[in-house]
Amino acid sequence: MPGPDETQVGIVGAGPAGLMLSHLLHRQGIESVVLETRSRDYVERRVRAGVLEQGSTDLLTSSGVGERMAREGLSHDGINIRFAGEQHRIDFRRLTGRGITVYGQQEVVKDLIMQRLADGGEIWFETEVSAVEAIDSDHPRITYRRDGEDAGLTCEFVAGCDGSHGIARAGLEAKSYERNYPFSWLGILAKTPPASDELIYAAHERGFALHSMRSPEISRLYLQVEADETLAAWPEDRIWDELRLRLAEPSLQPGEIMEAGITPMRSLVIEPMQRGHLFLAGDAAHIVPATGAKGMNLALADVKVLAEALAAWYRSKSHDLLDHYSEACLRRVWRAEHFSAWMTALLHRDPAGDPFEHKLQLSYLRYITTSDAAATTLAENYVGFQFPSPARGGGRGGGVGE
Ligand code: APR
Ligand code: PHB
Repeated sequence: MPGPDETQVGIVGAGPAGLMLSHLLHRQGIESVVLETRSRDYVERRVRAGVLEQGSTDLLTSSGVGERMAREGLSHDGINIRFAGEQHRIDFRRLTGRGITVYGQQEVVKDLIMQRLADGGEIWFETEVSAVEAIDSDHPRITYRRDGEDAGLTCEFVAGCDGSHGIARAGLEAKSYERNYPFSWLGILAKTPPASDELIYAAHERGFALHSMRSPEISRLYLQVEADETLAAWPEDRIWDELRLRLAEPSLQPGEIMEAGITPMRSLVIEPMQRGHLFLAGDAAHIVPATGAKGMNLALADVKVLAEALAAWYRSKSHDLLDHYSEACLRRVWRAEHFSAWMTALLHRDPAGDPFEHKLQLSYLRYITTSDAAATTLAENYVGFQFPSPARGGGRGGGVGE
C-alpha cells in the first residue's frame, strides 16, 4: 500500500527515539512519518535495557504515555554493589533525593506504538531506508524500499533515529569519537523471581555480572563474556552456574530462558549531531556501554530537545533552537559517555589482567562504598545528572524532564 510521498518530518527508525519524537511532534500539531525496517512484532519483542531516570519517566507521564509504566514499572531507591565477598548498597534516595524506575525498553516501545496508532500516526514497518538525500536543501528526501518497491518521501526535516547501525549518520560528514571494549555482555530474560528487590552489580574475579528484573516473576541477568563470544559456548547450565558464582546470590533460581543475546560494549559520539535539515537522535548519534543504563534515557532526552526546536520552527520560523540542537544535547551526552565508561572500568574484569589496575579498581570500589562523597558521584549520575542552568544563574536544570 503506497503512503504519501511527502510529510513535514521524516523519521528513520521506530525505537524509543523515533517513536517518542513522532509522538511529541503530533502533540504540537506537526505531521511525521516513521519508517522502520523491522516488523512491529520484532521491535516490540526486542529485549533491551530497562532503567528510566526520573526525567524520562516525567517525559512519558507528561506526554500521556506513562499510564502502564506507572502501574507496572518498579520504583527503586538504590542499587547493590558486590565485590571481594562484600555487599554494599548505594542509597540514591538518601544521597540525591531521587530514584529510578525499572521498566523494559520494549514496554516503552509498545506503549508508544499503541499511542501513535490510536492517534492515527503513520508508522511504516518493514520499510528499509536506503539513503537520506539533499539534507542541505529545504526538502531533504528519504529513499526507501517497501513491498519490494523503491520509493521516496520528501520532507521538510529528517530525524535519523535509526540506532547504532543506522545509515542516516553517513550523510553528516561529522567527527566521530569511538572506543571499543575488550568484552561483551551476554544477557538473558528468564522466568524466575528476582533474587533481590534492587539491582545487583557484581565485580567478580571471573568477570562482571548484573542482576536486574522486569516484574516479580521475570529477571534480567547479564554476564561479562569475551568480546567475540558466541551463544553456542553458553549452554543454559553454564549461564546459571556462572551467574550464581559471580552474583554470590544463593536464592537465585534457574528458570526458563525466554531470550538470550550477546551485546558488544562500545562507546561512540558523532559530533555535531546535525547538518542542514538532518538531525540525529539516540543511538544513531551516540552509543554507551550498557553498564550505566543510559541509552534509552539519552534517546528520550535528545528527542525532547528536538521536538521543542522543531515546534519553535513551525510556530514562528525561528531557527535558533534548531541551530543549537547538537550543542544542547552534547553536554548531557558526554556526561553519560564519561559515566558509562567509568562504571564499565570500575566493574569489569580487564582481560589483559594488569594486577596494578585490579588493585586500583578494588580501592575505588571500597572508596565508593564507604565515602558519601564518592557514592554521590555514582548516585547523581545514575539517577540522571542535573546540570546547572546558565540562564538561571547556577540553579538546577538540563534534565530530560525539564
Ligand atoms: N531503515 C529503517 N529503519 C532502520 C534502519 C533503516 N535503514 N536502520 C535501523 N533502523 C531501525 C532499527 O530497526 C531500530 O528499530 O531503527 C531503529 C533504532 O532503534 P533503537 O536501536 O532502539 O535506537 P534508539 O531509538 O536510538 O534507542 C536507543 O536502544 O540500543 C538501545 O541501548 C540503546 O537503550 C538505547 C536505545
Ligand atoms: C536492565 O535491566 O536491562 C539493565 C539494568 C541496568 C543496566 C543495564 C541493563 O546497567
